[in-house]
Amino acid sequence: MYKLQNIDIEVFLKDYWQQKPLLIRQGFQDFQDPIDEHELAGLTEEESVDSRIVNNQDGIWAVEHGPYDDINKHCLGQWSLLVQSVDHYVPDADSLMNTFDFIPVWRMDDLMVSYSNPGAGVGPHLDQYDVFIIQGKGSRRWQVGLPSHYETIRPHCDLSQVTGFEPIIDEVLTAGDIIYIPANHPHNGVALEPCMNYSVGFRAPSQQEILSSFADYAIDHNTLTQRYKDHGLSPREFTGEIKQQEVVQFKALLAQILQSEQFDQWLPVFLSDNKKAEDESNHQIEEFSQQAIIDMLSNGEYFHRNLGVKPIFVEPNSSISANATFTFYIQGESYSGPIESADLVKKFLSVPFIAEQEGETQYSQFPEFTALLTLLVNKGHWYIE
Ligand code: SIN
Ligand code: CO
Repeated sequence: MYKLQNIDIEVFLKDYWQQKPLLIRQGFQDFQDPIDEHELAGLTEEESVDSRIVNNQDGIWAVEHGPYDDINKHCLGQWSLLVQSVDHYVPDADSLMNTFDFIPVWRMDDLMVSYSNPGAGVGPHLDQYDVFIIQGKGSRRWQVGLPSHYETIRPHCDLSQVTGFEPIIDEVLTAGDIIYIPANHPHNGVALEPCMNYSVGFRAPSQQEILSSFADYAIDHNTLTQRYKDHGLSPREFTGEIKQQEVVQFKALLAQILQSEQFDQWLPVFLSDNKKAEDESNHQIEEFSQQAIIDMLSNGEYFHRNLGVKPIFVEPNSSISANATFTFYIQGESYSGPIESADLVKKFLSVPFIAEQEGETQYSQFPEFTALLTLLVNKGHWYIE
C-alpha cells in the first residue's frame, strides 16, 4: 500500500544515515493516513497503550499521560496527542513503518503517531535516536539544526527542550513529505493546520543498557560466574594499592565475557525484545494441532504475521563449524528448526503472510516447518484469516 520514493537508498545510507538531516519531498505520493485523530484518541483508552498530551496554554506547558478519564479536558490551548507503538495496533501503520526496512528491523523501535492542532508542537528538543518523520494530513513547519552544546530547559518535569538552535532546514511539510533527523540534532515542528505526523524511531542501545541487559541474562542463567584470581601475588609496599597489572587482569576478566558463547546467545535475545506486551494481540489465541495447521495450509488459508512481530536471526559465523539448527528470535524468545529447512523458514519470516497456491511453495509438505508454524500460531505470533 505504501511505496517509498524520491530517495536513493544507497546514497542515503552512505551520505545521510546518522550523519545529516534530509528533507524528502513526496517520499509518499498521494499519501493516505493509516489512522485518523478519532481512532488515535480511541487507542489511548487501552491501559497498555503509551500516550501523552502535550499542551501549551498562554505559554504554560503541561503533559498528561493516558489513559484519560476525559481526553477533552487536556486538549487545551495548542496541544498534541502523541501515541507510541501504533504499528502494534493498526495494520496500515505497520505497513507504513515496514517501508523503512532498508534499515535492519532489529534497529527499528516503533511508530509514534501524533495529532496536533494549529500552533502546537512539543517545543525545540533533541532525541537520542534517529527518526524519519512523515507528514500526514495538514501541514507543519519543521526546523532542524546541527548538534552542539545547547542549553536544556525543563518547562515541565516531563518535557525537555533546548534553546537557541540555528535551523539548517526550515521548511513547511505537507502530506507525503518526510524529514529524516539523525540523533542529537535539535528540531522543532509547529503545526500550521490540524495535522498528523508519523515518527519511525530506531533503537540504539547505550553501553549502560547493553551491560545491564547482559548482566540480567547472566544472573537469570546463572552463568559467567568465574571469579578474579591473583596471578603471582608478591609483597607490596602499600597494602591498599591496586597494581596496574591487576587493573589489566580485571579488564581481561571482563573482556573474556565478550568472547563467550553466552554473549552470542544473549545478543539476538536482547535485540529481538521489542517490548510488545503479550496481551496486545488483536487475535484470539487458540491451540491448534499440527494436523489442523497442515489441513488449513492445504485448504489455502492465509497465515499472517501478527503486528509488532519482527523476527531476527544471526548471520552464520563462518569460523564456527556449521550448526545443525537454524535459530531465530521473536520478542526475546528463540525458535529453532533443522538447518535443512533454513531457507524455507527465512523466506516465511520475511513476508507478511503465506498461503499455499498452485505453483507456490507447498509449506504443508514440510513436517519440520508445519511443527514450527503450529508453535508460532499457538504463541499468537501468526494468525489465520
Ligand atoms: C511529533 O510531534 O509528532 C514529533 C515530535 C518530535 O519531534 O519528536
Ligand atoms: Co523529536
